[in-house]
Amino acid sequence: MFKFWTVSVIFVFSYFIKSHECMKYSNYTLYRGMPVNEKHLEFFRNLSDMYDVNFWTPPGNLNKPVDFTIKPEDQAGFLKKADENGIYLSTIMRDIQRAFDKQTVRSYIRRNMESFNWQSYFRFKDIHNWLIDLQKMYPKELQLIEIGKSAEGRKMIAVKIILIGSKRRSTVIVEGGIHAREWISPAFVTFMIYKTITAPKSNDKEWKAVALTYEWYFLPVVNPDGYEYSHTEDRLWRKNRNDPSVDINRNFDTAFGTIGVSFQHQSDTYCGKHAFSEPEAMAMANFIKQRSKSLEYYISFHSYGQYMIIPYAHLTTHEDNYDEMKEIGKQVEKKISRRFNTKYLVGTAYDTVGYRTSGVSGCWVKKEFRVPYVLTFELRDDGESGFALPPEQILPTCQETMDGMKTLLTPRVARFQKLGPPDRLIDCQSRIVSNTIITICNMCLFLIVRFY
Ligand SMILES: *[C@@H]1O[C@H](CO)[C@@H](O)[C@H](O)[C@H]1NC(C)=O
Ligand SMILES: *[C@@H]1O[C@H](CO)[C@@H](O)[C@H](O)[C@H]1NC(C)=O
Ligand SMILES: [Zn+2]
Repeated sequence: MFKFWTVSVIFVFSYFIKSHECMKYSNYTLYRGMPVNEKHLEFFRNLSDMYDVNFWTPPGNLNKPVDFTIKPEDQAGFLKKADENGIYLSTIMRDIQRAFDKQTVRSYIRRNMESFNWQSYFRFKDIHNWLIDLQKMYPKELQLIEIGKSAEGRKMIAVKIILIGSKRRSTVIVEGGIHAREWISPAFVTFMIYKTITAPKSNDKEWKAVALTYEWYFLPVVNPDGYEYSHTEDRLWRKNRNDPSVDINRNFDTAFGTIGVSFQHQSDTYCGKHAFSEPEAMAMANFIKQRSKSLEYYISFHSYGQYMIIPYAHLTTHEDNYDEMKEIGKQVEKKISRRFNTKYLVGTAYDTVGYRTSGVSGCWVKKEFRVPYVLTFELRDDGESGFALPPEQILPTCQETMDGMKTLLTPRVARFQKLGPPDRLIDCQSRIVSNTIITICNMCLFLIVRFY
């Protein structure tokens, strides 16, 4: 009798588990639009009021591509409207679900390091287990730190590496997986962890020298809830899983809520009620702050577009050591392209992707702690597959990006130095204060001149 019930219960449960269906994107087409005049831009900005549209690249400047998918039911209506408005349109993928189905996800088998690789994508739990096993293999050099918990209570993991014989010149922090659907980002960060911990035994002299230079911290998946959700429920999920869900990379305290964000809860770029409202952003901020004194490099990984983005994302002007960063970026670009001829574009967000944003992690790190080398990568590809990057491209992406890391992280000054105080980078608040001071001075001057 007991057995019968157990079996029945298991049967019923497995039925529910099996019948649970993840959001499918069959017949969702990926379009690329090219706005060449203001009217076109307005058309794209209006799009989400009219249709169920998911932007892969939101509208920004003129002549910058806009990538998006539209629900199959809305496609006929949309194509008619686009035609009426003289929109330049091309179809990148007719059915994005087919491309998502090709993104194989494998499991990691505990203590079998070979079962983790860069030929497939991996779930959060598998990445975590692999890291635990890596720590067991290299207990003296690699350490896992729990920096906090996500909104749904998952562990936020940092990987600390100090190799034996390391010069510990300064600190490098590498961030990945802040946007859930950008699966190549955690994949690359795990590759970089692997290359760093195995550097002493490798015959790659260039990387070995770099690996022995720094104290390393890697944050491979800073949005574990969203990452899991993009595996189990909705492949195009971007934000965290708080209620309401927030774009963690709009939740930092630089020009918070000013540009390139939304205050509507359902928006993909909802920035939250206030800066650091999100547990993930708060945990990152505390963690970074504790290591900020020696922090020389902060590198974050996103996809897609093949851009190297220099702070500040909310400005059109070039601030701080922009010129030096641009020069470094060009060298990195050259190095990356040598392997597979992958091309990158270097500049601010405004210069590259063509739109401005605020509340971005790297910008906050640079502004707050005067960290000299802050760079955001938008990894492969340039739009052919977008977030549906095929697994065959994971390893090549990792290899070429590691080439770039060698150039980026080779020290160019003898001693680590922080940036000086901000030049023209004045917050709104201090601008009000300085304007007030100027006004008072002018009034005094006026009174002096008048009554002298
Ligand atoms: C997708 O479109 C094809 C061709 O129009 C149709 O046969 C198929 O049923 C559609 N699939 C779904 C899941 O709607
Ligand atoms: C965009 O929306 C506004 C306000 O709803 C409307 O006035 C304008 O004509 C629309 N523009 C285009 C190009 O559809
Ligand atoms: Zn991103």
